[in-house]
Amino acid sequence: MSDNRSRTPKDQAFLEFMKTGWSDVNAQVSPNSKANQDAKRKREELMEAFPNHLIFIEAGKAPTRSNDTHYKFRPSTEFTQLTNWGSSTVEESVLVLDSNKQSATLYLRPTADKDSDEFFANTEIGEFWVGPRPDLVQVEKLLGIATKQLSELNEVSGKKLDLSDEKLKQFLSEQRIIKSEWEVSEIKQAVEATKEGFENLIAKIPKASKRGERALEAAFFQKARLLGNDLGYETIAASGNHANILHWTKNDGDIKSGELVLVDAGIELDSLFTADITRTLPISGKFSEVQKEIYDVVLEAADAAFEVCRPGNRFRDMHNEAMKVIANHCERWGILPVTAEEALRPENQQHRRWMVHGTGHHLGLDVHDCAQARKEMYLDTELKPGMVFTIEPGLYFHENDELAPEEFRGIGVRIEDNVAITETGYDWLSSSIPRTSLEVEVWMQSIWDRD
Ligand code: GLY
Ligand code: MN
Ligand code: MN
Repeated sequence: MSDNRSRTPKDQAFLEFMKTGWSDVNAQVSPNSKANQDAKRKREELMEAFPNHLIFIEAGKAPTRSNDTHYKFRPSTEFTQLTNWGSSTVEESVLVLDSNKQSATLYLRPTADKDSDEFFANTEIGEFWVGPRPDLVQVEKLLGIATKQLSELNEVSGKKLDLSDEKLKQFLSEQRIIKSEWEVSEIKQAVEATKEGFENLIAKIPKASKRGERALEAAFFQKARLLGNDLGYETIAASGNHANILHWTKNDGDIKSGELVLVDAGIELDSLFTADITRTLPISGKFSEVQKEIYDVVLEAADAAFEVCRPGNRFRDMHNEAMKVIANHCERWGILPVTAEEALRPENQQHRRWMVHGTGHHLGLDVHDCAQARKEMYLDTELKPGMVFTIEPGLYFHENDELAPEEFRGIGVRIEDNVAITETGYDWLSSSIPRTSLEVEVWMQSIWDRD
């Protein structure tokens, strides 16, 4: 806090008084052994891949929002990946792996002793201001990693590697491509929470008009905080033509009966695994014929991607299959300047005017997980059990798109589901969230009838 408004007493007598009369608070520690084992295996693999190094993995610090206030802290994905420490991570903690000694040490700042004035007078890290932190022993028990005081970190010396190193980032990104059973179950749980978020949002639709996108965003967020740690990413609540703006997160528009609202939202759990779901909802509760026409094509494209979702096929096959459906319907609608077959050639791609994004991406601790993986490990790779990704085709007809049929203009549709590859096919993690146009109508009505 700036000195110009600080009234904290500084008298010695006051400091002495503040030291006395505090009992210890014993926090319960419940380690998750499966998750801890996953993290241990990842640390070992990493040390094997980078011998003779001291590898520093920082949890990071919350960025400034304004002046002396900050955004909510979220540890770096790589830190959580290697420690299994999620939403309760102490800011500025650092994991140090010594690949010579095959040792892992977690450096953190425990709560200050009561005989320092930090605990009541330091607004950034003091217990009075930001809450107590666990002690070293508690964290060691929780994560199964040796711990030390953060202040001892500068005593560590050796050949240092950190997350500014591209090769290290790439390794850690690729290490996340195959999820463990526990990780898949976390994502599944994040999807279930996200379903509740959508239901809370749907309940608000009849009561939202002016600034309705904000009301819907808020309704989803309520469940994100109740059932999880936070949003996995900024919610897109895009009504009418806003649906055509792919990253519409301003959410400051009205919602109007007769239009659609595209909602792309995901809840992140305390483990920091997230879901990533899109449903496009008719604000009146019923799709118009034209809306349904577009919706059903997107659904068909998604189904075509699902069809090739099994080990042995390639990641890119899902996109290619979805694009065949989109191109064929664009030809049927008479909006392609060439045939669908010609459009599908890599050098043409005219149908992509109406769907400029990809059909899916890996999903995990990051919503766009494994982003630093090499192309041959991502787009060009064969699908393998344990991969988790989204399938999310869409069609977007901007209100000023003169090449789109007039009645399509201002309509945008995306349907996004989450799947995990199994030995024989896939586990459809979001199967409980209504998806066809009819299912969506029945779902919305049932929520409105209940309220
Ligand atoms: N929510 C971002 C995406 O769907 O990729
Ligand atoms: Mn999404
Ligand atoms: Mn997505």
